[in-house]
Amino acid sequence: MRLYLDCADRAELAPLLDTGLFSGVTTNPLILQRGGVRLAEVPALVHWLLERGTAEVFVQTTAADADRIVAEGRELRALSDRVVVKIPATTAGLTAARRLADQGVPVLVTAVYHALQALTALAAGARWIAPYVGRMTEQGRDGHEQVAQMQRILTGSSTGVLAASLRSAEDVRRLALLGVEAVTVGAPVARALLTEPLTEAAVADFDRAVAQLRD
Ligand code: E4P
Repeated sequence: MRLYLDCADRAELAPLLDTGLFSGVTTNPLILQRGGVRLAEVPALVHWLLERGTAEVFVQTTAADADRIVAEGRELRALSDRVVVKIPATTAGLTAARRLADQGVPVLVTAVYHALQALTALAAGARWIAPYVGRMTEQGRDGHEQVAQMQRILTGSSTGVLAASLRSAEDVRRLALLGVEAVTVGAPVARALLTEPLTEAAVADFDRAVAQLRD
């Protein structure tokens, strides 16, 4: 399973990207807003990420109709061949995703809330779908169960699940056991993934032993 960072805040991203453990960065208008990044500043953010060696950068279209989503998607892809275009799973979005996929542009269909949308994203030729696991559960659906169904629907296809809207390291563990291809997590969950209190305690023991052995 690959790990991605769901974040646009350079100060939060830098130390996590420096670990080399994250395959890329996902963004959307909410993530940009939380990171204080205006739409006009997105190209600069993309280039900052690419310069730090980020393998994939996901940027979301903002247009409402299929023609303008396609045009916007092509502009985003023109920033770099490491840019993946994110498009919400609306009828217009799926229509645009199909056209972009036919033009060789990798697309992630996002804001997915139901297993049936795995079917429509598959028909659109999407490389990824992003189920909003936390939001599904918070809105009365079982997010993990929906993802399990998406996994079964996508078995054998070239469309993978990149699970999003994750609230804890436990969410990541459960999704890994489901066999999802990737998850994207905010900085707090990313840091939680890297921190195991019992490991920290064991290292403190090592350090005390080393100090004593050096005396
Ligand atoms: C998409 O990549 C994000 O995960 C999306 O904004 C949902 O995350 P949230 O539920 O934390 O807002």
